[in-house]
This record gives sequence, C-alpha cells and structure tokens, in this order.
Amino acid sequence: MNLREKYGEWGIILGATEGVGKAFAEKIASEGMSVVLVGRREEKLQELGKSISETYGVDHMVIRADFAQSDCTDKIFEATKDLDMGFMSYVACFHTFGKLQDTPWEKHEQMINVNVMTFLKCFYHYMGIFAKQDRGAVINVSSLTAISSSPYNAQYGAGKSYIKKLTEAVAAECESTNVDVEVITLGTTITPSLLSNLPGGPAGEAVMKAAMTPEACVEEAFDNLGKSLSVIAGEHNKANVHNWQANKTDDEYIRYMGSFYSNN
Ligand SMILES: NC(=O)c1ccc[n+]([C@@H]2O[C@H](COP(=O)([O-])OP(=O)(O)OC[C@H]3O[C@@H](n4cnc5c(N)ncnc54)[C@H](OP(=O)(O)O)[C@@H]3O)[C@@H](O)[C@H]2O)c1
Repeated sequence: MNLREKYGEWGIILGATEGVGKAFAEKIASEGMSVVLVGRREEKLQELGKSISETYGVDHMVIRADFAQSDCTDKIFEATKDLDMGFMSYVACFHTFGKLQDTPWEKHEQMINVNVMTFLKCFYHYMGIFAKQDRGAVINVSSLTAISSSPYNAQYGAGKSYIKKLTEAVAAECESTNVDVEVITLGTTITPSLLSNLPGGPAGEAVMKAAMTPEACVEEAFDNLGKSLSVIAGEHNKANVHNWQANKTDDEYIRYMGSFYSNN
C-alpha cells in the first residue's frame, strides 16, 4: 500500500521550497500523493510543483505564506478545505544568533510565530481533520538543539523543543488510531540554509563530515512512521546523543553548545 492509499490524496508541506521540505514533497509524491507546497518564494515553489507533477504524475498546489505573520494560516486552511488531506509536515524554522536581550523584540515575535504559533495552528488544524476521518499522518521536524539547548540561539532551541515535546505527546495520544504521528530530530543536514551559514576552514569541514542529506532524513522518518513516536535521524546523531547523556552532565553539555557561538 503506498502513502496515498494509506493516508489520502493530498499532503501539505509547510516550508517546502528547498532542503528538507523539498525532500518531503518528493517522497510523498513518489508514493502517489498530490502536494500542497507552502513557503515564501512563490516562483521557486511553482517550479518545484511543476517538476513534481511531471515526474510523479500527481497534482500540486502552491500557497505563498510567511509563517512569521500571525494570520498566515487563514489562507492555507481556506485553500485546502475541499481537498482530501492525508499528510502534514511542518518543516520551516527561523533563528537568529545573539544573546536573548540583544535580539530585537520583533525577531523574538517572528521566531515565536514561525517556530511555535504557526506550527501549533497547523498541527491543531490538520490533526482535527485526520482524527475525524481516522486516517492521516504527521511528521514534524525538530533539531538536536531541542535536546541540548542552544545558547546564543536560545529561542530556536526552545522552539524546536516545543515542536519535539508537543509532537511526541500527540503521537502517543493517537497510537491506537489510524493516524500516525512522529517527530524526526535532525542533526546537521545538508540544505541551502546550512550551506549559507557554514563556517569556513576545519570547523566547516567537521560540520560537513557529520552531515546527512535531506533525502536520508526523510527516508528514515517514513521508515519509522507508525512504529516510533520520536526518532533521531542517523546513526551518528543517535550515538552522539547517547554519549552526551552517558558521559556529560546537562550543565556541561549546555556550556559546550554555547562554546560554538559565544562570539555572537
Ligand atoms: N539544516 C540543518 O542542519 C538542520 C539541523 C537540525 C534541524 N534542522 C531542521 O530542519 C528543518 C529544515 O531546515 P532547512 O535547513 O531545510 O532550512 P529552512 O531555512 O528551515 O528552510 C526550510 C523551508 O522553510 C521555508 N521557510 C522558512 N521560513 C519560512 C517562513 N517564515 N514562512 C514560510 N516558509 C518558510 C523555506 O522556503 P522559503 O524561503 O521559500 O519560505 C524553506 O523551504 C527545520 O525545521 C530545522 O529546524 C535543520
């Protein structure tokens, strides 16, 4: 049974333009689902939708939305209200570097909207539909910073932690139904967003050595859908988390994470 037969005709990827979101869109389309692609860069999304439709023979819909705007979900829910929805993934994130009090308040509001509020609105909305029809799946995307905390990038880590904890709990709530929910926690992943922030020299090389492709992360997420509530992507990342938890105190690990960005 492919994803369309199991979960429904359409899936929505919130943050689909490139990287992990694009890999999610390609994956569900390869299993027969039509895709709702949401992001800010409409032209790129249209190009992606066209290529997906040509490659996999599925329909696509593009919705231009900025998740930092508090009313952005109105048009997303309106545009999808008559579709047979069966899958949702919230992929987008927003972060800025710097100490909490040195970051302009508007940036904090934007981060709360992208990483928490719009995520919650979308998760709540599509879970309502999936629960009612007793069919559907959700995979939300978190980060290792959700486990470690992220000094000098504190709101981001806290937001990813919110996504992780909320999704894990909801995943347990619907285990005995036909709705499958999972959170995938990513370590370094080779996306345009990562490449544009990569430090030069040996630090950058070390980051790339441990990095996964978006396609590998998405494949692992789907391999575990309906079996696990919460997955850390990749053997390297799993081993790292295991080692931190076995060999370091929380204080040590939080300080270690802070050491990467203490110049900000
Ligand atoms: N890359 C990594 O190393 C890494 C590590 C750990 C966790 N993660 C997690 O993986 C996920 C994906 O990260 P990524 O590196 O692919 O990059 P990203 O910068 O989060 O981009 C993902 C997508 O989200 C869209 N997006 C970003 N901000 C948006 C906004 N305000 N409104 C609407 N759409 C928005 C972007 O398209 P538009 O620009 O067109 O809007 C893009 O397609 C995130 O949840 C991140 O926390 C990534």
